[in-house]
Amino acid sequence: MKNILAISGSLRQGSSNHAILQYLGSQVPADVEYTIYNDLAQIPAFDPGLDTDNPPISVAVLRKLLTDADGLIICTPEYAFGVPGSLKNMLDWLVSSSTLVDKPVALITASLGGEYAHASLLLTLGALSANVIADATLLIQFIRSKMDSDRKVKDAGR
Ligand SMILES: Cc1cc2nc3c(=O)[nH]c(=O)nc-3n(C[C@H](O)[C@H](O)[C@H](O)COP(=O)(O)O)c2cc1C
Repeated sequence: MKNILAISGSLRQGSSNHAILQYLGSQVPADVEYTIYNDLAQIPAFDPGLDTDNPPISVAVLRKLLTDADGLIICTPEYAFGVPGSLKNMLDWLVSSSTLVDKPVALITASLGGEYAHASLLLTLGALSANVIADATLLIQFIRSKMDSDRKVKDAGR
């Protein structure tokens, strides 16, 4: 049984990135356990002084989920030409624990433009020594116009 963890960089109710992750979850084979992580907002602001083997509980839970996962999917918008703060904050908690070292990661940036966040995340994931799968990275632009009001894909183009 393979185990995939999926994380959305958007906390927004009705998020298109969350909808993409839900869609991907509907496509996985029966022998894959697929979990969308919904506690990004519970991760405290990164504090190097608390970044130990006994971090805040939400961070410990996240690290365990990631350690147990065979792969990670990140799907995120861009905010102000950068990575959403909550997502970058989460990644900062993973540096010293080496949680993502060699972990297969798929990166989807679904945004209006998104190229800055996408490039920045590739750099950060590189710094974390994650195994970013080239064929599983995707930049989807104008995402809001590619979904209908029920968050169903109405335009499959990039
Ligand atoms: C405060 C704010 C800043 C944004 N800045 C950018 C940006 O720099 N680049 C971009 O591509 N989209 C930007 N957007 C638009 C988001 O990409 C768009 O709202 C996207 O649909 C959000 O993803 P979600 O539907 O998963 O919440 C911004 C949105 C907000 C709310």
